[in-house]
Amino acid sequence: MNHLLLLLPITLSLFFTPCLSNSNTNTNKLKFKEAPEFYNSRHCPSIEKNDILCSEEGVQVAMTLDRTYLRGSMAAILSVLQHSSCPQNIFFHFVASSNSTTLLHSTISTTFPYLNFHLYPFRHDVVAGLISTSIRAALDCPLNYARSYLPNLLPLCVKRVVYLDSDLVLVDDIAKLAKTPLHKNAVLAAPEYCNANFTSYFTPTFWSNPSLSLTFADRNACYFNTGVMVIHLERWRLGDYTTKIEEWMEVQKRMRIYELGSLPPFLLVFAGNIVPVDHRWNQHGLGGDNFRGLCRDLHPGPVSLLHWSGKGKPWVRLDANRPCPLDALWAPYDLLQTPFSLDS
Ligand SMILES: *[C@@H]1O[C@H](CO)[C@@H](O)[C@H](O)[C@H]1NC(C)=O
Ligand SMILES: *[C@@H]1O[C@H](CO)[C@@H](O)[C@H](O)[C@H]1NC(C)=O
Repeated sequence: MNHLLLLLPITLSLFFTPCLSNSNTNTNKLKFKEAPEFYNSRHCPSIEKNDILCSEEGVQVAMTLDRTYLRGSMAAILSVLQHSSCPQNIFFHFVASSNSTTLLHSTISTTFPYLNFHLYPFRHDVVAGLISTSIRAALDCPLNYARSYLPNLLPLCVKRVVYLDSDLVLVDDIAKLAKTPLHKNAVLAAPEYCNANFTSYFTPTFWSNPSLSLTFADRNACYFNTGVMVIHLERWRLGDYTTKIEEWMEVQKRMRIYELGSLPPFLLVFAGNIVPVDHRWNQHGLGGDNFRGLCRDLHPGPVSLLHWSGKGKPWVRLDANRPCPLDALWAPYDLLQTPFSLDS
């Protein structure tokens, strides 16, 4: 029937964080170790604790939290703190489904008692009606779309935020990433891949319809990864890009213009107009080959962030005693209590 379904290159799905509704791990029972307190080094600007939320001298980080990926999120948070020279100046903005905020709030506060954070409830019905079934049902999880609502969810005083997926760890100071210059009124900075086949992200229906494909006519559009982004929230709000993304999702409901979930609307609105982030901040694909489960190696060049994008997740492979070699780099950030200490 739809041949594109069969021909979609393997690499396409490599970049996405799937959202599996209910895996076989009972995440209600997950218990995490308490992370240590992290302190600013002497050169850090001193910011009153109550002012960190709106401070432009601090670093604002946004992440979505769900129970399935909680173990990954915890590791990501720990890695951010551990490699930051001013960890006390970081504020975390977490977005979670409105029906799980209580549980997640208590998990975060017990695991990171010193963390500056706020948890924003995300109501699924905001996007539920806009989501069409994508090629991988797992990508349709409403929380995947929460990143396009950050400018509405976060307080107006937050002007710039670093958005991070849950399947990654940083091994460098997040302040460097946060400082990415957003010149020329750019709204987004993200790792951009101009060698990826951009055509393949949209259907023949899209490309054969001039009024749609003209969207990219005068843009040097390249694929970019939405799992690591620096977002200028103020400019986003001014340009009302959330509505622009929603408009493309409406088009998608009427005619199939892409096959994947939350990424294509981002490409439609921003591709060709983003500031490229150095690839060292997205050593991606470590989740491995989606079909055969093959392990992947690092791309050449320096490493500031390791991203297990793709179907395989390091915690799943470690638990199954079938880790990929690079999963050993994730393991030191795992805060899960071992089953042996659960009883204590
Ligand atoms: C929370 O809401 C989502 C979507 O409506 C649903 O799939 C999930 O089962 C709910 N979780 C709980 C614990 O009620
Ligand atoms: C890019 O993808 C399109 C659609 O999937 C395909 O027709 C085309 O041959 C690809 N181009 C290259 C250079 O691989």
